[in-house]
Amino acid sequence: MCGIVGYTGRESVTDQILDSLELLEYRGYDSAGLATLNGQTGKIKLRKCAGRVNDLRGICKKDKKISTCGIGHTRWATHGGVSDENAHPHRCGDVLLVHNGIVENYEELKDHFMLHKELKSQTDTEVVAAVLNRLYQGDPHEAIRKTVQYLKGTFALVIMFADQPDIIYAIRNVSPIVAAYSGNGTMLASDVVALGAAAKQYMVVPEYMIMELHKDEIKLFDLNGKPHQTEFIDIDWDTTRSGKGNYPFYMEKEIMEQPDAMKATIESRVVDGRIDLSADGVPDDVLRDCERVCVVACGTAMHAGLVAKVLVQSKLNMYMDVEYASEFMYEDPVIDDKTLVLAISQSGETIDTLEALKYARRKGAKSIAVINVKGSSIARESDYVMYTAAGPEIAVASTKAYTTQLITLFLLVGRMAKVRGIFDDAAEKEYLKNLLQAPEKMQEVLDQKYDIHKIAREMLDAKDAFMIGRGLDYSILLEGALKLKEVSYIHTEAYASGELKHGTIALITENTPVVAVVTQTKLKDKELSNIREVQSRGASVVLLVKDGFDLADAEYADVFTLPAMADEFMVFPASAALQLLAYYVSMDKGLDVDKPRNLAKVVTVE
Ligand code: AGP
Repeated sequence: MCGIVGYTGRESVTDQILDSLELLEYRGYDSAGLATLNGQTGKIKLRKCAGRVNDLRGICKKDKKISTCGIGHTRWATHGGVSDENAHPHRCGDVLLVHNGIVENYEELKDHFMLHKELKSQTDTEVVAAVLNRLYQGDPHEAIRKTVQYLKGTFALVIMFADQPDIIYAIRNVSPIVAAYSGNGTMLASDVVALGAAAKQYMVVPEYMIMELHKDEIKLFDLNGKPHQTEFIDIDWDTTRSGKGNYPFYMEKEIMEQPDAMKATIESRVVDGRIDLSADGVPDDVLRDCERVCVVACGTAMHAGLVAKVLVQSKLNMYMDVEYASEFMYEDPVIDDKTLVLAISQSGETIDTLEALKYARRKGAKSIAVINVKGSSIARESDYVMYTAAGPEIAVASTKAYTTQLITLFLLVGRMAKVRGIFDDAAEKEYLKNLLQAPEKMQEVLDQKYDIHKIAREMLDAKDAFMIGRGLDYSILLEGALKLKEVSYIHTEAYASGELKHGTIALITENTPVVAVVTQTKLKDKELSNIREVQSRGASVVLLVKDGFDLADAEYADVFTLPAMADEFMVFPASAALQLLAYYVSMDKGLDVDKPRNLAKVVTVE
């Protein structure tokens, strides 16, 4: 998971590359670098360092010479630690290379080409650059074609050759590369969000095709040198929206954008008061004829799948699996042509999810992807795609992508209930009425953000925390716990509250922070008795409770009342409160909320 950019045109390239790299830091930010090639003088400039793009900007400030062709990289270390030598770009002879992915056989290649003496870093990338350089006899396509035939694994390679001024070459396998005309030249990046405001359309570089970026033209060739064309996709969101606006962090901005993002996700899918998925092209028979539903996803996206599972079982009376994509292929899942696989992913590039989807499709499953990024790898791999309208999500901690995934899944389940004869018109109307309330109920919580901030202040010194609930509340809290731990580094565990007494309650001692969510009518009495169990052992309990539930007389550290909705819709107000809680704890601890340590926004390694 690294960020890659390339630009060639008429303007100075350095600032463009640095600005785009900053927009890609969510993909990795432990080191950064750029290389430029001056078309007139043939002079190469290579600047790289451990640290953030801002540190690299400081180094580049001293450079006076202007170049109009260059490549850049921001890194999430996979091979080799965080150091200047391991930062990209890597130069070997006439080759300058940046890479996103993992070349699994790089050690064998070192031996095969006897490269050990010429390598300066511990990276797989430098090995690829050295092989390219070894095979380069003046024909870039020939060198690239021969090199990729040796590579095993995933790669997005972006290359400059010292004797090929003003041209950037790229080739990929799984790891993403998009390209666009940028007004005064052409550019490429790992993600649309880095293409800048000038780009109105973008293309996805097809796998194992060689793309050439020229000042005025983007060219595509297959490995036999035959030219190809590919479609350009409209950039239908305002990429300048990917600035932070008046917010200190993207995470807060994206939490606040949720009501609008949810409305935008609903908009095209409700026609005359009915759920209508025809704009997504999802045929009713796929929803009617499947006998089993299986979600493959990771992290927050998987937690959205857990909420969908509660819906599918309660509304459709169908069994549903929700699998960690990284586990799915290795547990011999029972998949056949009666299975409907839902691949949920914000980025659409998570390789665990992509490989799980490919596996399920090979077994005959039909597939629907729930995706935020148009034209992404998982979208292209799936039979059908339902796009969320979250817009660019930059913070590593996923928020608006999660709630727009939920909206999409609620709509999908509602349509399934209708085509399967479970919902009549009245039931569909009632279901939709509740769903359409979700944005405003979410907004009610966001308007009380200072109350949540006060609760957060009480948790700043915690080393461990628990989040307890039952049923849907437990699914909600798995996501709440991930949010808190990934941005605040507090070891947070979500636990089915009824299960605590079977061992884990041994960890509850005086003042152990416990967040309890109680929103499910049929479970609230049991949840409240589980709360008393932890309180009797000294826990300090923060209660997030649905409005109208009578509060137990127990002592709470704090109580936050969630605006009431029908039980199955309470995930919306509850998740808003839990997102804000995590955000404020992280911010008040002075952490980099948007770029937590060790993490990256898009995980393109297995
Ligand atoms: C969520 O806050 C995390 N950033 C992470 O778990 C993320 O949800 C997961 O990596 C899946 O990413 P995707 O939705 O882009 O596939």
